[in-house]
Amino acid sequence: MGELPSDIKRVLIAPEEIQKRVQELADQISKDYRGKRLYMVGILKGAFIFMADLTRALSIPHVVDFMALSSYGKTTESGAVRILMDLREPIEDQHVLIVEDIVDTGHTLSYLHRVLKGRSPASLRTCALVRKIRAQTDVPLDYLGFDIPDVWVVGYGLDFADRFRTLPYVAELKPEAYTR
Ligand code: IMP
Repeated sequence: MGELPSDIKRVLIAPEEIQKRVQELADQISKDYRGKRLYMVGILKGAFIFMADLTRALSIPHVVDFMALSSYGKTTESGAVRILMDLREPIEDQHVLIVEDIVDTGHTLSYLHRVLKGRSPASLRTCALVRKIRAQTDVPLDYLGFDIPDVWVVGYGLDFADRFRTLPYVAELKPEAYTR
């Protein structure tokens, strides 16, 4: 993989592992939604690369849409979330799949699940690339790529202060990189 950027501590998930798992998830999703039209909701910005790979690996008809969310008081862990950019269409009677990059505390996913459930979709499921072991959520994750330790990770869409998103792997950031 060559030399790692100096702020990266170690690679947690290699590019080949990611591609293999994304294909497995897409196969499972295609099987589960056979005969239905799927409304995929990607959460910006972090999920854009995962969404691009996942949707291209699907073998069923689907619509791609995005939402952008921001969480207040991350440091206080208040869990308050707000919508910065909403969906383009009503999702009533649609089969909706939320696609998240990462589930950390789980606040974002439970907020979003509550909001979208209130819009009366035909069905609502959740998918995340990675989940930190400390995640506690009342919402079940229907599709999950990987469980990871409770460390700050970057790459494959995940960032720190908008850096490192385009690394082809998921890696642990050195603590010095975010404490300095
Ligand atoms: P939550 O704590 O599950 O609500 O996660 C909130 C958001 O924080 C996620 O959607 C990510 O955008 C971001 N986030 C949490 N942990 C990480 C990480 O390790 N790397 C990059 N982004 C993260």
